[in-house]
Amino acid sequence: MEKTSITPKLLKENFIKIYGFGDGVRIFKSPARINIIGEHIDYNGGKVLPTAIDRFLYCAIRKRPDTKIVYSDLFFPGTYSFDINDDFIFDSANDYANFLNGIISCMKKSGFEFPCGFDVLIGSNIPSAGGISSSSALECGFAWAVNETFGFNISRKKIALMGQKSEHEFINVNCGIMDQYIIATAKKNTAELIDCAKIEHEYVPLKLGDYRFIVMNSKKQRKLSDSKYNERRAQCEEGLTILQDAGYDFPNLCAITPELFDEAGPLIKDDEIYRRVRHCVTEMDRVLKAVDALKANNLAELGTLLYASHASLRDDYEVTGIELDTLVDEASKQHGCIGARMTGAGFGGCAIAIVHKDSIDSFIKNTGDAYKRVIGYEGDFFACSSGDGVSEI
Ligand code: GLA
Repeated sequence: MEKTSITPKLLKENFIKIYGFGDGVRIFKSPARINIIGEHIDYNGGKVLPTAIDRFLYCAIRKRPDTKIVYSDLFFPGTYSFDINDDFIFDSANDYANFLNGIISCMKKSGFEFPCGFDVLIGSNIPSAGGISSSSALECGFAWAVNETFGFNISRKKIALMGQKSEHEFINVNCGIMDQYIIATAKKNTAELIDCAKIEHEYVPLKLGDYRFIVMNSKKQRKLSDSKYNERRAQCEEGLTILQDAGYDFPNLCAITPELFDEAGPLIKDDEIYRRVRHCVTEMDRVLKAVDALKANNLAELGTLLYASHASLRDDYEVTGIELDTLVDEASKQHGCIGARMTGAGFGGCAIAIVHKDSIDSFIKNTGDAYKRVIGYEGDFFACSSGDGVSEI
């Protein structure tokens, strides 16, 4: 089965094949996300500007008469069984089931009680380990499915926080809140300006006129738990501590304005830490400018900010790599493209570009050909539109 051919109907048919015929199967969908701008600053108290897109993970669920929990996935091998009365702890032998057990563990610790078990089947058309948040789509889609099935009435914000906690405790990625938050709370035709220090948001209308977002998948897969993600986060903490020890009372790196950074930055003697901090300061500034540009319908300015964000992630934060740099470089040469940057954690995964709708075909062909010429294998390209957060079908 092709990943992109998954539909809710197909998922339900497969559910019945695996778990047997009967009433009560419910299907939920959970979107992928792109981050328009604001990279690697969610865990530095910054503001970020993601949007959910029309690629989905689907989760079929049905209560069982006993206390068993059974998970299957259309694309990942293995069926995993537990009992709702088990202690849910991380176990590497449980593979993808850890994402789900992390959520159950959070729910149980928060006092939610399960009167019975349930069967689950997952099917996703989001590229895995590809930078558009397949893992948060899984955590939040599953959490929402369980929430609705058992009538727990957990808020969307709490679902996002549970997804993040599960990622910290079960996946060993010290991630910020951006991905889970946007996936839980997104609204079609908007980007979401998430204030990650206050954990609150504002919807910003996403009016792209004749332009579209194109997702460019480098097809370089990476697991964040094996990447330098946690190291970057630790370097940021080191930079903040240096400035705080020198007497500045910045609560986080994104509270530092560019002017204050000119004054305080030179106190950081280690060049690498200095550049990590500089990225956070300049990226936060770009996010605020990007929101102004979107509100003023100034897409050219938004595009310029995307290029600048990529350059900062390449030179100061060092999370791009040859694949993402090639995609962005080649995209920038194409007619109709007004901006491009890597999106998500980097180290591989996806980039995005803003492209005029009449140039989409030539853009994909030319950028794709050039990418293959330089990197030696094909990328994957698709136009996307914004969508809603987790919901029942
Ligand atoms: C990953 C994390 C997010 C965020 C981005 C980088 O997607 O899950 O919390 O830090 O990387 O902006």
